[in-house]
Amino acid sequence: MITLGINAAFHDSAAALVRDGRLIAAAEEERFSRIKHGKRPVPFSAWETPDLAAAWCLTSAGVGVDELDAVTYSFDPALQLPPEQLGLFDPWDHLRHMYAERAAEFLATALPGLDAGRVRHVQHHVAHAASAALAAPFDGDCAVLVLDGRGERHSHLAGVYSEGVLQPLFSQSLPHSLGLLYEDATAHLGFLRSSDEYKVMALASYGVPRHLDYLRSLVHATGDGGFVASGVDWDVLAKARDPGADWTADHADLAASLQAVLEEVLLDLARWLYDRTGSPRLAMAGGVALNCVANTRIFAETPFESVWVQPAAGDSGTALGGALHVAAELGDRIAPIAGADLGRGFSDEEIAASLRTARVPFERPVDVAVEVAEALAADQIVAWFQGRSEYGPRALGHRSLLAHPGRPENLTRLNDVKGREQFRPVAPMVVRERAADLFTRGPIPSPYMLFVHDVAPQWRDRIPAVVHVDGTARIQTVDKTDEPLVARMLAEFERRTGLPVVVNTSLNTAGRPMVDDIRDALECFGSTPVDVLAIGPFIVRRQDA
Ligand SMILES: [Fe+2]
Repeated sequence: MITLGINAAFHDSAAALVRDGRLIAAAEEERFSRIKHGKRPVPFSAWETPDLAAAWCLTSAGVGVDELDAVTYSFDPALQLPPEQLGLFDPWDHLRHMYAERAAEFLATALPGLDAGRVRHVQHHVAHAASAALAAPFDGDCAVLVLDGRGERHSHLAGVYSEGVLQPLFSQSLPHSLGLLYEDATAHLGFLRSSDEYKVMALASYGVPRHLDYLRSLVHATGDGGFVASGVDWDVLAKARDPGADWTADHADLAASLQAVLEEVLLDLARWLYDRTGSPRLAMAGGVALNCVANTRIFAETPFESVWVQPAAGDSGTALGGALHVAAELGDRIAPIAGADLGRGFSDEEIAASLRTARVPFERPVDVAVEVAEALAADQIVAWFQGRSEYGPRALGHRSLLAHPGRPENLTRLNDVKGREQFRPVAPMVVRERAADLFTRGPIPSPYMLFVHDVAPQWRDRIPAVVHVDGTARIQTVDKTDEPLVARMLAEFERRTGLPVVVNTSLNTAGRPMVDDIRDALECFGSTPVDVLAIGPFIVRRQDA
């Protein structure tokens, strides 16, 4: 079977291609269109499908539209309720319903030759659930928790997967939504709704959770697998912050209080699910499952032995989930995903040709990993462009900015390169075998940067650039077998510095999608004070570096 998954209903438009139960390509539209998140998640934009990503998935795999057994659209308008019945104020929501109903025609226009009859709607949270549970590297059944802003009429789903089939146990109805709650706070704090929620999580570390009583009265688990989360008046807690204005202690305290209450509710939901299923394994997806601080508490404080979060946990992952869900329904056996490097990649010849066209001087060292380790040890900043681009919001060693972790000023330096707020942390990548020596509390391996770990006290002064204000770090463990080049670079860096860790942040500048193709890499390198661009086997140096 060949199934193409499409996410388009809200934002993070994306496409994913599954052949014979194996995910072979997945990409977000933003990487092609260069519009962050693909579009804003407003009803007016619901008609926009990820045409470029979908076409690339097919072309890269050599699959014709006439070979597709099914195309999935991860939102089912038949399950939608009018916004007034959902308790949401959105007078234009009917547009999302209308556009979703016509998705087959839109897709048939975008992909000429596609039989519109092959397009199937998949319930939004079923797609999220499948993206986690069917893709997870688990042996055996697992519990699944979808933590989202909204779907057709719900905001969450708790269930269990058995033999590849989902049994839903509870879905929380709107308007109660942990995702929408966090989005509201994000907007109140002057950040971009449905985009900058991770900034609120980072800001929370700077605050004191002094509003717990008020928030708990409005946001708490209800003991039946669901929760209430509605009616918070953010003005009571802190004055709204204008975008770009300085944040205050009040803003940080609001963020800290919200984060603390969110964690309490998620722990209750996870414990309820464990009690109902008895499964030692938990798979998670949905935008709230990108909250790596909460994820670590679920791992560390509930009876689940294994917690796996799908790397594209936000809405882009529903493209993957829809395709996997229907492939399983059609009888395919689903293979766990092997990694997040599912996007575009380029041959050495293509890269060399592009560098020559741009008349950029470059060299081909014996080993690019050694050359980069050398540059990092000399405290240079390296743009690292290798292999296929990542699916999901994290740079995982394919489109990364790298730096020396031992210099505290490198946090400021990288945030300056990227043009972003100074309270934002950067993260360490570490070879898997060494991770437990430095990092505790979170799961190891942690290949997708979706958990935070405590940095062992004896290491905090040695890698200050990657230690957040609360003594934690959002690590990426690197497996030598899966990522031999990155692992070699880390080993060579350790040989030179004694540090088994390198700073890793995404290769982009503030507000822009991650670098995806060669031109993006050259544009980013050309416009930022990065010293070295390691692109494929080649090295491009800043002329004065
Ligand atoms: Fe979602």
